[in-house]
Amino acid sequence: MHFGQSLILICLVVGLGAETEVLTGTPLPNPPRANISQCALVNDNDRYDCIPRGNATQEICELRGCCWSETKAGIPPCFFQPKFLSYKFKNITEKPDGLEAYLERSYKSIYPNDITVIKLIATYQSDSTLRIKIIDPRRKRYESIFPEKEINTPRARNPLYRLIIEKDYQGFKVVRVSDNTNIFDVSDLANFIYSDQFIQITTNLPSTYLYGLGEHKERFKLQSNWTTYTLYSRDTSPLPNTNLYGSHPFYLCMENSTKSHGLFLKNSNAMDIIIQPSPALTFRTIGGILDFFIFLGPTPSDVLKQYQEIIGKPKMPPYWSLGFHLSKFGLEDLETTKDYIQRNLNVGIPVQTIWNDLDYMDQANDFTYDKKNFNGLPEFVDSLHEQGRKYVVLFDPGVSAGESEGSYPPFDKGNELDIFIKNSSGQNLIAKVWNPVSTVYPDFTHPKTFEYWKLMMKSFHDDVAFDGAWLDMNEPSNMIQGSLNGCPDSELETPPYLPNVLENSLNKKTICMTAKQYAGVQYDLHNVFGISETNITSKVVSEILGERSLVIARSTFPGSGQYAGHWSGDIGSNWEDLRYSIPQLLDFSLFGMPLMGADICGFFGPSNEPLCNRWMQLGAFYPFSRNHNSKWTHQEQDPASMGDRVINSSKKALEIRYTLLPYLYTLFWQANQNGSTVARPLLIEFPEDPNTYEIDTSFLWGSGLLIVPVLEENKNSVATYLPKGVWYNYYTRKILRSVGEVIDIEVDDETIPLFIQGGQIIPTQDFKPLTEDVRNSDLTIVAALDENGNANGMFYWDDGISIDVGKNYTLLSLKVRNGTLSVDVINKSIEEPPKIKSIEILGLDESFNQRILHQRQYDYVYNKERQNLMIQNLNINCSSSTSLQWS
Ligand SMILES: *[C@@H]1O[C@H](CO)[C@@H](O)[C@H](O)[C@H]1NC(C)=O
Ligand SMILES: *[C@@H]1O[C@H](CO)[C@@H](O)[C@H](O)[C@H]1NC(C)=O
Ligand SMILES: *[C@@H]1O[C@H](CO)[C@@H](O)[C@H](O)[C@H]1NC(C)=O
Ligand SMILES: *[C@@H]1O[C@H](CO)[C@@H](O)[C@H](O)[C@H]1NC(C)=O
Ligand SMILES: *[C@@H]1O[C@H](CO)[C@@H](O)[C@H](O)[C@H]1NC(C)=O
Ligand SMILES: *[C@@H]1O[C@H](CO)[C@@H](O)[C@H](O)[C@H]1NC(C)=O
Ligand SMILES: *[C@@H]1O[C@H](CO)[C@@H](O)[C@H](O)[C@H]1NC(C)=O
Ligand SMILES: *[C@@H]1O[C@H](CO)[C@@H](O)[C@H](O)[C@H]1NC(C)=O
Ligand SMILES: *[C@@H]1O[C@H](CO)[C@@H](O)[C@H](O)[C@H]1NC(C)=O
Repeated sequence: MHFGQSLILICLVVGLGAETEVLTGTPLPNPPRANISQCALVNDNDRYDCIPRGNATQEICELRGCCWSETKAGIPPCFFQPKFLSYKFKNITEKPDGLEAYLERSYKSIYPNDITVIKLIATYQSDSTLRIKIIDPRRKRYESIFPEKEINTPRARNPLYRLIIEKDYQGFKVVRVSDNTNIFDVSDLANFIYSDQFIQITTNLPSTYLYGLGEHKERFKLQSNWTTYTLYSRDTSPLPNTNLYGSHPFYLCMENSTKSHGLFLKNSNAMDIIIQPSPALTFRTIGGILDFFIFLGPTPSDVLKQYQEIIGKPKMPPYWSLGFHLSKFGLEDLETTKDYIQRNLNVGIPVQTIWNDLDYMDQANDFTYDKKNFNGLPEFVDSLHEQGRKYVVLFDPGVSAGESEGSYPPFDKGNELDIFIKNSSGQNLIAKVWNPVSTVYPDFTHPKTFEYWKLMMKSFHDDVAFDGAWLDMNEPSNMIQGSLNGCPDSELETPPYLPNVLENSLNKKTICMTAKQYAGVQYDLHNVFGISETNITSKVVSEILGERSLVIARSTFPGSGQYAGHWSGDIGSNWEDLRYSIPQLLDFSLFGMPLMGADICGFFGPSNEPLCNRWMQLGAFYPFSRNHNSKWTHQEQDPASMGDRVINSSKKALEIRYTLLPYLYTLFWQANQNGSTVARPLLIEFPEDPNTYEIDTSFLWGSGLLIVPVLEENKNSVATYLPKGVWYNYYTRKILRSVGEVIDIEVDDETIPLFIQGGQIIPTQDFKPLTEDVRNSDLTIVAALDENGNANGMFYWDDGISIDVGKNYTLLSLKVRNGTLSVDVINKSIEEPPKIKSIEILGLDESFNQRILHQRQYDYVYNKERQNLMIQNLNINCSSSTSLQWS
């Protein structure tokens, strides 16, 4: 059966022009002058820039066959006329799972080496996912080596989309069948360019509600006022309008109908993405191919699941990594490190994991520790383990190249295996990072680097039994430009189009674009350096530990979530960056990296008490919760150093976090299984309520918990939007029925407002200072009833460390219907799961039948005013299904 047939509207091949081959090398003609009456048809907002990032003059513009008329600032004066003849479909062939077509260029573009004949391959991947790949049929071009997840064989039976080729053969579009919304609208190919180092394509968008396209310091909803988002991995402290550490060419779009779709461009080259108000979105990449995956949703959580089918679902984190982490750059010796932790433990901060930055290393060299200042480190790490705590250290990708021969195995062994990145003349590329003299970088795409990295990590682990790896500087960062020898003159170093990268240079703060790796040149591989290191480190550390590994990486790419979590880098210690930490967190939820957090209390610059007080409260609800500070601030910011108020706030918020660990861990398991979100934007939970589309000052954990942090100084109230439905104040258990409205919440200095959504069941355990003790403590099931008295939830439980997730675990489905809680055992672990000690029902009006509770001799308390019922001193074994009735 040819499922594809119904998808194309036009007749095939018939009537297409003569099949004359345009030979490579045959120069294309220059375009004719633009037609002035055609130009006059174009609205300001619909202009496609014909001189991007150039100095536009009328003369240059006209030579390009484009239209010229100056208008408002920021709007291109030189633009393409409608249906300017760029490429035209030449022939189209239907395939069982899609179609293949050839397109041919008519006139020269403004960039060298136009690819005159290109091939479009559309694959109906599934009912909801369409892939459109555009390649050079004659010469293989670089294609991103990540994400590396195998893509399922296509199988579409009843697609939600239709691919339409325009009747004039000068465009195509993807529409949603159910309502004819244009999802990917390239119906005018006017500005389409496919040259060797410049590829540009524009799609008209059905709405301006766009999200994703990171990593940036930006609100959650992206701007569309001729805004450029540049993707090029870069070591810099986060500023607006700047390319940052990671590159994620993925967006989510909410349509007017409240349906949604997503689009992923699998391309790892540097690129600009421009969003203009019409609205339209332009991709401009300087290499690789176009390889689009279009996800039809229709809900935003469907879109994210479909996206993660392609890039891979997030890794299951070790249970302990959901505890609180304490870190600081500038813990200059072991005594300082010990004091730092001890003072926090002394005041009752539940520090689960201790981190050391570069300080622990000898001369900032990987796989060493400073035997003088950190004398006794191995024994210290052993003692942490005996206490039930964990230890994580920083690794840089760069290896010291300046040590004397025979004194530093990481350099010698790397040379022996010949796995370091090479410069254009084939010798080790010498750079400079933190190491005293110079630095070389392992090529993480080289087949021997796994063995190398494992050998190095293992021999270090034999000394210092670290539990997790913190991957810094992997953009890769370099403190000199390019290399010690500079970079050669090359079209790769200075391409014909330079995206809007920081400092207007591709090789500033990194290595030369001409550097050679096993999988290609840095020009193509730059944005995947981080993920290639993370891919290997994640497996290496698990193999060394024989357990799930914790890896936190700075530079990320689609698919990184399969291997690691992320922190938002060197942010400032100020209220603005506190606020921006939420959209950053939510972006990484879209990117399939739920294990994410910002440095609590900020990294750069001195923090202060009021800020740190609110930041510890919010940070307790980052999925990855770590207080980390810079060495240069001269202001301590760990809770213990900040005085009573911050200590009180931190303990209060962290104790809540710890009692909710079973819920958080269950959410991570669901993300790992289904690609659902952990820290969830409101619009994902309430897509039918457009009031949620711009919210990025509050967020949810799963469906159950709404977190409304205080983000301004001297504030004891916060106004927040509460979507329609039943909510419960976490602290008072008081019921709030919202019609979908903004409410004002009064709040004291030591509290972060939290709400439970009616209809959700939240598994909780006892607060204990160590995560392992929480995991083994008794359960309290909190059922928050919706307006019909129903609620649902899940509880996932395993040993917290097994690599093989899904082999030995307990999974309970929890349900309240008609005054009865049922606990269904879906799967049972070998070991007995915790017992249910109590059940709390929220939103139960007093008309319920207390006789049953008496009859069964339950120990219970009903609070009439708060309408909550607490049934306690139960001892319910969860190895078999059970139920409990109260009315
Ligand atoms: C545009 O003009 C400015 C000033 O003359 C010059 O510095 C810059 O290099 C030009 N930019 C381009 C892309 O030609
Ligand atoms: C389509 O055109 C391309 C390029 O000219 C050619 O190689 C190919 O054989 C044609 N395919 C069909 C089915 O005509
Ligand atoms: C979506 O809604 C906006 C605002 O009402 C409107 O301007 C726009 O034309 C609509 N888009 C479509 C595709 O209907
Ligand atoms: C869009 O940008 C222009 C130029 O920077 C500015 O004048 C205008 O106010 C902006 N419009 C909106 C809606 O932000
Ligand atoms: C990811 O790591 C594995 C080794 O664990 C390796 O075999 C694979 O090639 C790596 N993927 C890429 C794209 O480098
Ligand atoms: C490559 O590195 C070697 C050794 O560091 C150096 O001598 C050579 O000049 C470099 N080549 C280039 C093109 O930078
Ligand atoms: C912190 O909590 C303690 C114990 O509850 C209390 O005595 C103290 O007053 C609190 N300090 C501040 C500054 O709120
Ligand atoms: C199964 O999991 C339990 C804890 O959940 C653990 O104690 C036990 O060792 C595991 N058994 C196997 C065979 O993996
Ligand atoms: C719940 O109770 C109602 C009324 O007593 C009854 O109609 C309904 O079938 C019950 N539902 C279940 C699932 O037991």
